[in-house]
Amino acid sequence: MLNFDLHIPTKIIFGRKAQEQIGKALKPYAGKVLLHYGGGSIKKSGLYSEITAALRGSGIAFAELGGVVPNPRLGLVQKGIELCRKEQVELVLAVGGGSVIDSAKAIAMGFYYEGNIWDVYETGQAITAALPVAAVLTIPAAGSESSPNTVITNEEKAIKRGFGSQLLRPVLSVVNPELFFTLPQEQLANGAADMMSHIFERYFTNTTHTDLTDSLCEATLKTIMKNALLVKADRQDYDAWSEIGLGATFAHNNILGVGREQDWACHGMEHELSAIYDVAHGAGLAVLTPNWMEYVYKDNIAIFTQFAVKVMGVEGGYRPAEAPILAAIAKLRKFYRELGLPSTLKELGIDESKLELMAQKATGAAYGAERPLGNFKKLLWQDVLAIYKRSA
Ligand code: NZQ
Ligand code: ZN
Repeated sequence: MLNFDLHIPTKIIFGRKAQEQIGKALKPYAGKVLLHYGGGSIKKSGLYSEITAALRGSGIAFAELGGVVPNPRLGLVQKGIELCRKEQVELVLAVGGGSVIDSAKAIAMGFYYEGNIWDVYETGQAITAALPVAAVLTIPAAGSESSPNTVITNEEKAIKRGFGSQLLRPVLSVVNPELFFTLPQEQLANGAADMMSHIFERYFTNTTHTDLTDSLCEATLKTIMKNALLVKADRQDYDAWSEIGLGATFAHNNILGVGREQDWACHGMEHELSAIYDVAHGAGLAVLTPNWMEYVYKDNIAIFTQFAVKVMGVEGGYRPAEAPILAAIAKLRKFYRELGLPSTLKELGIDESKLELMAQKATGAAYGAERPLGNFKKLLWQDVLAIYKRSA
């Protein structure tokens, strides 16, 4: 096990009607907030009215900015920064999914940043201040409700980049599984693929003596898979949504990742798909992940065998040693298909014309500064291209 620091300050208010507490919960942090949201689902569901009533009821003033799109854009972030400065808000309240929360985090740090906030995503330079962020989660997927990360798309450059700082972990997040009832099947599937990937990125490691976090990863993966199928059958299944909601948050707050070298190659490869083709993050991951697994498993047969047996429940012989692993990857593909996820880039509307460009962008080779992607197996741009081609 490796050395680590763990500090997760986000207060999670979980359960039925939890959003009703948002006014009271925010009161110690702010007298005025920016209410930030997406393309309209919260108005349709009535959540917008509930939140604004709760804010008014607690005497919290607010400015508002809607219109965040999936793969959130830098342009709206810049608008949000201007608005927060003009209105002198003290906290950014995101009501939505990962895209809204990530946009809120970008605005929160941009409030104090002199210059273009994109610099921070491009250079990874440390930030020294950010407004506090809070969230009311409407889709379990990205884990941004308690992660220190934000992922933004620079629409002019067609680049999607992530940035992380402890200052960006939300101070509090409301997770009410009832708010997930309105999600269409496609978003359930995208979310499941994303949260599973957050676990895979941590689970597949060459670090040894990680028994506890191995087991936590395995349990969380199995819980998500079982309950995603229950929710597929009954979209109003509160208990199943609760398991998924908790799974999404735990998948990415790094409890499952401490003390282990993490990978993150699939996320790096997927961000290139989203940046150019604007595909849903989870759908892109569902296509790439099994192909990544097939490309890398020989580097550590032991952890992949453990995955096959403990997560995918593969039984049978171990001769040849790769048989259970290939069976597990086939089962994973079947599970994704059952949820309605795509299995090829073609299904995502991606042809082969930009695969080489994306491989070079993903590793930095396109910018003359190649850095191998991932840690489980370090991928050069030619490796990434090979994985894209297998995924085509
Ligand atoms: O915009 P609205 O109308 O609200 O519709 C949204 C959006 O179209 C809809 N939706 C959300 N809640 C709903 C709902 N529809 C009906 N009922 C509800 N209750 O769902 C659509 C997708 O929303 P989005 O926020 O984009 O989804 P998600 O949470 O999957 O976020 C994806 C983004 O998060 C980033 C991804 O790259 C992507 O940009 N990630 C952020 C991470 C982080 N900050 O730690 C880590 C992840 O790896 C990920 O990269
Ligand atoms: Zn993700």
